[in-house]
Amino acid sequence: MTKSAPKVNYLKDYQTPAFTVDSVFLEFLLQPEATQVTNRMQIGRLRAGDLWLDGESLDLLSVHLDGEDVTSQCRVEETGLSLSTDKEQFELEIVTRINPEKNTALEGLYRTSGNYCTQCEAEGFRKITYFFDRPDVLSVFTTKVVADKSQNRYLLANGNLTESGDLPNGQHYAVWQDPFKKPCYLFALVAGNLEKISDTFRTQDGRDVALEIYVEPRNIDKCEHAMESLKRSMAWDESRFGLIYDLDIYMIVAVDDFNMGAMENKGLNVFNSKFVLAKPESATDVDYEGIEAVIGHEYFHNWTGNRVTCRDWFQLTLKEGLTVFRDQEFTADMLSPAVKRIEDVKRLRSNQFPEDAGPMSHPIQPQSYIEMNNFYTMTVYEKGAEVVRLYHTLLGEGGFRKGMDLYFERHDGQAVTVQDFRNAMADANGVDLQQMHNWYVQSGTPVLKIESEYDAQMQTLTVNCEQSLPETEDFKPLLIPIGFGMLNSEGHSLQLQPIESHLQTVELRSETNAVLKMTKAQQQFVFNGVQTQPILSLLRGFSAPVKLSYDYSDQELALLASADEDSFVRWEAMQTLLLRTVQAKVAALKSVEEYAVPQLLVDTAEKLLLDHSLDPALVAMSLTLPELGYIGEQYREVDVDAIHQAHNWLKNGLAQALQDEWRNTYLRMQDDSEYRYDKRQIAERMLKNVALAYLGCLAQHQERVFEQYRAQHNMTDVLAAMKIMLHQGHSQTDQALQDFYQRWRGDNLVIDKWFAMQAETQNETALEKAQSLLSHPDFSLTNPNRVRSLLGVFARLNLVGFHRADGAGYQMVAEQIIKVDELNPQIAARLLGPFTHWKRYDAERQKLMRAALQRILDRDNVSKDVYEIASKSLA
Ligand code: ARG
Ligand code: ZN
Repeated sequence: MTKSAPKVNYLKDYQTPAFTVDSVFLEFLLQPEATQVTNRMQIGRLRAGDLWLDGESLDLLSVHLDGEDVTSQCRVEETGLSLSTDKEQFELEIVTRINPEKNTALEGLYRTSGNYCTQCEAEGFRKITYFFDRPDVLSVFTTKVVADKSQNRYLLANGNLTESGDLPNGQHYAVWQDPFKKPCYLFALVAGNLEKISDTFRTQDGRDVALEIYVEPRNIDKCEHAMESLKRSMAWDESRFGLIYDLDIYMIVAVDDFNMGAMENKGLNVFNSKFVLAKPESATDVDYEGIEAVIGHEYFHNWTGNRVTCRDWFQLTLKEGLTVFRDQEFTADMLSPAVKRIEDVKRLRSNQFPEDAGPMSHPIQPQSYIEMNNFYTMTVYEKGAEVVRLYHTLLGEGGFRKGMDLYFERHDGQAVTVQDFRNAMADANGVDLQQMHNWYVQSGTPVLKIESEYDAQMQTLTVNCEQSLPETEDFKPLLIPIGFGMLNSEGHSLQLQPIESHLQTVELRSETNAVLKMTKAQQQFVFNGVQTQPILSLLRGFSAPVKLSYDYSDQELALLASADEDSFVRWEAMQTLLLRTVQAKVAALKSVEEYAVPQLLVDTAEKLLLDHSLDPALVAMSLTLPELGYIGEQYREVDVDAIHQAHNWLKNGLAQALQDEWRNTYLRMQDDSEYRYDKRQIAERMLKNVALAYLGCLAQHQERVFEQYRAQHNMTDVLAAMKIMLHQGHSQTDQALQDFYQRWRGDNLVIDKWFAMQAETQNETALEKAQSLLSHPDFSLTNPNRVRSLLGVFARLNLVGFHRADGAGYQMVAEQIIKVDELNPQIAARLLGPFTHWKRYDAERQKLMRAALQRILDRDNVSKDVYEIASKSLA
């Protein structure tokens, strides 16, 4: 906690470490309120100078240098300890005491449901002991854990178990050795009365790896999907990337109190229980998919993150962008590539684009930070993954794989930079990828403006492309691959014939599918032999994270929506038609004009519903209205009420216009067979529940919604029904809410859903509802999942409640953020997100939002996490 402006860290100030720690031995005497940590390091000198070790909130008990007590010679400061010595090679032993029970920030060693666990990334290890807390100091760790046996059945740490046994006074111990050098952010320790499920995985090279998932005893029936996901991840990484697991054991622990999703600690992942626990009655398809993806993500980090790690935290996207790309590909292979791609584009657009347009905008390789935890962002992760995808698109699967192979060959065991990754990709393929650098150092979402000219006489089509980066002076052109195709007016794909001189920049992937490689600020691509005025299919597969501007007619969009060969383009075309309709209604609401749902839109939607050859998931996603947040993004000034009204109006209009089709679709997608997590069932449930959401707008179909709730077939269907009832204010809503609560009280993850669905419901009493939930006995400010379910969801998704004109929504959230900041700064800083976009609202709301930010900032004990975001937003 700080008062004066905290220190800023800059990439340009990076210096190589002055010391190495070849090996470190840690001993933990676990006690809830007074854990003693002995840290014995074998240190080698690389440069002259004093010794500086990072450390925070530690009680220093003693320091010994090669056995000599030097405690009194150490200078202890708030952020670390320094000691003068000119020794080249020495042993330093430091003993400290920490208080896990009081650790509500959930960083370092803390308690969750009476168990011990750790979270060290990014800079939490310094809250455990004094150390070189930076990712480019890699050491071999040995960890001895000593604790009361009755309270701590399992004692876990990284690596392989080498020794364990009983001790006097009801204590026992375990020694773990991790043979792989690692930075301290990958350290982990877990202890407590957990239960486990076990399995094994036989690697490609014939070794059996023990797999263990540890959970609280009451959750032992919800681990199977996580275990299956883990085995699929291991097999997939072998077959797709040739990457094999390297230790004899892989452990996953699920805890209820966790700041993020999960953590890839070597051999001992710690997970938010949300990304482990599932059974059909209590988890939705989205939950199942999230678990598979996050289990995969953390597993894939073993190579991209752990074996090859980051030189410094400015390189975070090196491991995160790459690992997100890998988990996206994994999910695509497990389920449906088309569906996954659209889901990811939606996420990027509704969360990353706004971040990139707001006051926290930063390149995927940030240049500075105050609190590193604030840079675990959608930009570093999701845009970072898009940039990795660019290499994949440019080099193809084979070329990308060659680059990965070279990356590991060169850098296994090292802490490296994003340039090293790019060099491996370039060298392995004998190409120059220097221009990719511009994606790493420029922030903001590029705008790609495209115009086309058709010359009927010459039968040529000219595509004129222009890229720009709003608000970036002297912007450097990006390498942008543009997925491209052409259709005739019947919707048939046209053969592509680039002119001779464009054969280098137009790469044909098939006769009808190309990638235009744009490298200049303005660039032209010309095609021959085009017999009729074509309809362009642009940015196929969302081939780059840009905003595309092209002047499509509604007719062209309708054609693309039903006929293009690229499913992203089809989805996008339908979404654009829906968006245009909402926008037209917003405009009409402000005048006296009448505006009706266009027949073309209804016809196109109907066509999709009647075409049973289509993947139901793609139909479902195409016919789901764009989110309010995304619609708001289209405006300089967001009129929350008008958008909300227009959104409801369109939903009702489509419900009315296609009643029969919705009903038929609902019935056609019904399936009473046992729940399975597979592509077909997921797709059918998705479309069924989209149909139900439209039917729920119509009085004569209300009962159907409640029936689906009552059937309690699985959580996907139950939650879908509940959300519809809440949204429409059906008469059975309260009854269902109570029933749901009674059924599930005590199951934290389900009760999180109960809070979230209410926090999300937008109506006149939204704020009062959220306020009353704050005093519900199950609400807790110390549990991050609960805080996110109520406050996070309310501020981010309940536009009507949060942006109430009188400012009461802002006030309520601000008050809670202040309370959370005293307990858990990381979570408090995350809750600030919606406030940072104050510039997008009217003058009165701007004033109120700024006042709330100011109030949050103007406190003596404001954390640096909150300070950084609030002050940058107000600047
Ligand atoms: N490396 C983890 C992951 O991507 C995220 C941990 C971030 N934790 C934090 N406190 N910033 O899976
Ligand atoms: Zn990660």
